Amino acid sequence: MDELKENIDKRRTFAIISHPDAGKTTLTEKLLLYGGAIHLAGSVKARKADRHAVSDWMEIEKQRGISVTSSVLQFDYDGYRVNILDTPGHQDFSEDTYRTLMAADSAVMLIDAAKGVEPQTKKLFWVCHRRHLPIFTFINKLDRYGREPLDLMEEVEKVLQIRVYPITWPVGIDGHYKGIYNRITKQVSLFKSDASHGSKQLEEVTADIGNPIVRELIGDELFENLKNDIELLDMAGEDFSMDDVGKGDLTPMFFGSAMTNFGVQEFLERFLKMSPAPQPRTLQDGEIIQPDNPMFSAFVFKIQANMNPAHRDRIAFMRICSGTFEKGMSVYHLQSSKDVKLAQPQQFLAQERTIVEKAYPGDIIGLFDPGIFGIGDSLSDDKLKIRFEDFPVFPPEIFARVQPKDSLKRKQFEKGIIQLSQEGAIQVFRQKHVGLESFIVGVVGQLQLEVLEYRLKNEYNAQLAMTPLPFTVARWVCAENPESIEKLKGLDNGMLVYDKKDRPVVLVNNEWALNWILQRNPDLQFLVVPADKAMV
Ligand code: G4P
Repeated sequence: MDELKENIDKRRTFAIISHPDAGKTTLTEKLLLYGGAIHLAGSVKARKADRHAVSDWMEIEKQRGISVTSSVLQFDYDGYRVNILDTPGHQDFSEDTYRTLMAADSAVMLIDAAKGVEPQTKKLFWVCHRRHLPIFTFINKLDRYGREPLDLMEEVEKVLQIRVYPITWPVGIDGHYKGIYNRITKQVSLFKSDASHGSKQLEEVTADIGNPIVRELIGDELFENLKNDIELLDMAGEDFSMDDVGKGDLTPMFFGSAMTNFGVQEFLERFLKMSPAPQPRTLQDGEIIQPDNPMFSAFVFKIQANMNPAHRDRIAFMRICSGTFEKGMSVYHLQSSKDVKLAQPQQFLAQERTIVEKAYPGDIIGLFDPGIFGIGDSLSDDKLKIRFEDFPVFPPEIFARVQPKDSLKRKQFEKGIIQLSQEGAIQVFRQKHVGLESFIVGVVGQLQLEVLEYRLKNEYNAQLAMTPLPFTVARWVCAENPESIEKLKGLDNGMLVYDKKDRPVVLVNNEWALNWILQRNPDLQFLVVPADKAMV
């Protein structure tokens, strides 16, 4: 096999999706522990903060060096090169999360055994499901009392409308599980409890279920229960089909505890075998680019400015889709129609940044961005010059008018607003002909506004005056006759604004108000996203 194909086959690029507090940080850390990227669990935890309060999030963001390394974590395990994409775990939803999922080939859905499917799990699940991403389920926190495994299976099937196939099954009684049965290998792994509280790999005894030692170790009653469970699953459960997993119609389910490492290795090994290697990607014209196409291509899915406040740098994260990346290579950047040299590419190995010499499809690379890249941009060999499918747009639902507190700081303020909108942190609109020197910003989650305020102050030295607006709906407006649009300036139950490409957008309180406007202006057409974009 050639080098490119070999490298593609061994790569796995995925994101972990979950509701805050389900244990994403803990599981990520344990995967790193088993991957040998860290030696004692506890180091990733240090960066953890964003679950409860915005102020925590800000604190951690001050230490950008740390949060950056968590954008993607890479390690090797059992011949695989694993890339874990970190989706921000805020209580509040943000566009960043959606975009990160664009760079993944599969997702791990983490569920708290006591809580089941929670609101954020649902939201993220649907984003993955719509893209037909294969989804693997890990039921976490089995070290303490939770809901019955069958009950959890049923909930996932009912609420998320996806078929479930348990690959592992807990052995023992709720709250006191002793190990895991693997339905594929038909082996039981019993865990030896230790005093490390999960900071080290867990010792275990593994044996075929037919081996008398299993019965001896767990006792007759638990053994009979286990056999009954397995029979029930085999008879009444779903058939396993790798094809259905690949299409996102069936989710393999695993049980364990990230905290005590129970079932983690079992999960990691099976997941790596079952999850897809880097997948082909769709282009704007509907064509497909295969990862083993020898010509290089990549797209930008995330931009982060001022990662290092001392240097004011801006990093564009790109996912490689085909070909081989080599340090210093020149590639064609479609959106600027220019060749760019990819100097100083960075890769993030556990806690450290390293310079990348070579990388392959599925890998994520951070590039120092002089301000030319945007989210969704395409980079490719200049013989290819391809354009990837546009990123979906997320219609904003929360709006505010913003202006600088101190008008002497207007320059910094404008620079900040414009850069942060390029980074995709906010969407920016302007009113015309009203003589107001302010911007209207639109976001998907409230936290984005708080982050905007914080970053403008800290990174651009501009304090913000922010007035919330009552609108919850934005529609891009089209009409045969431009005068019909102009007429919307006089709306008293809405506002006419223009996006950064100068396209007219109407903001209103609710759908009812939209209908009211449409009835009075039948030649208008309202679009949820700009005409040239797809919605998530
Ligand atoms: P998140 O990134 O999904 O928000 O969750 P995180 O890993 O931070 O876990 C949230 C809480 O759940 C933490 O407790 C963590 O220790 C706990 N947890 C994670 N996995 C397990 C598990 O398998 N079993 C049990 N019992 N608990 C688990 P915390 O008290 O909020 O934080 P800490 O005091 O442990 O730092």
